[in-house]
Amino acid sequence: MARQFFVGGNFKMNGTIKSITDIVHNLNNAPLDPKTEVVLSPPALFLLLVREHLKPEIEVCSQNVFDKPNGAFTGEISAEQLADSKITWAMCGHSERRVILKEDDQFIASKTKAALDGGLGVILCCGETLEQREANQTIDVVTRQLSAIASKTKDWSKIVIAYEPVWAIGTGKVATTDQAQEVHAAIRKWLGDTISKEAADKTRIIYGGSVSDKNCKELAKQSDIDGFLVGGASLKPAFVDIINARQ
Ligand code: G3P
Repeated sequence: MARQFFVGGNFKMNGTIKSITDIVHNLNNAPLDPKTEVVLSPPALFLLLVREHLKPEIEVCSQNVFDKPNGAFTGEISAEQLADSKITWAMCGHSERRVILKEDDQFIASKTKAALDGGLGVILCCGETLEQREANQTIDVVTRQLSAIASKTKDWSKIVIAYEPVWAIGTGKVATTDQAQEVHAAIRKWLGDTISKEAADKTRIIYGGSVSDKNCKELAKQSDIDGFLVGGASLKPAFVDIINARQ
């Protein structure tokens, strides 16, 4: 069954009003594959700026969401506030937040549930460290990270899973097509065994980690790679080529 190709641009903590406005104008005017779903994720400070200027076909994603309703939570953003601002996606479980901000599986699951309950789509990140890969723990780590979410929801229709091996993020060291396909296939099998056949067939599983205009076409040919979550290259004009990787 055909899954719509999905490409997310994760700007992380990069950009200025000027540079982000330039990226938005570039994307508004570029010839983008109409079959690809594109979602941009700028820093929180620029979410409204991007939403205001970006063409409506491209959706906007928060890099974070809190797991509680509006209230006394300094520095946080709720799912309700995002939805009210037409920010229709939230990212949960990025390895930079798992490692640097010490977010654990339970907190990530709770944030994912809050985002889904608030009507948002979720880009749910998972992935192993180099040490875990070398100890042959990749599939165990990834399925453990996803199991925490499965304990909170059986509805995966608004979740896009981003497999991002930590050792490939920002390192220029991309997973080989075989390495990526192997983990994506294992995630799809896990979805079938744990959630449902429908979730296995329909859930987009995208790859992140040093994706570039040079390696995207080969990765995009793999049967279980349904798109990309792009960091560094999403800030460059080459992002358009990655969006159009299936053309
Ligand atoms: O979320 C995207 C990501 O972590 C990959 O970053 O810079 O390796 O494309 P990058």
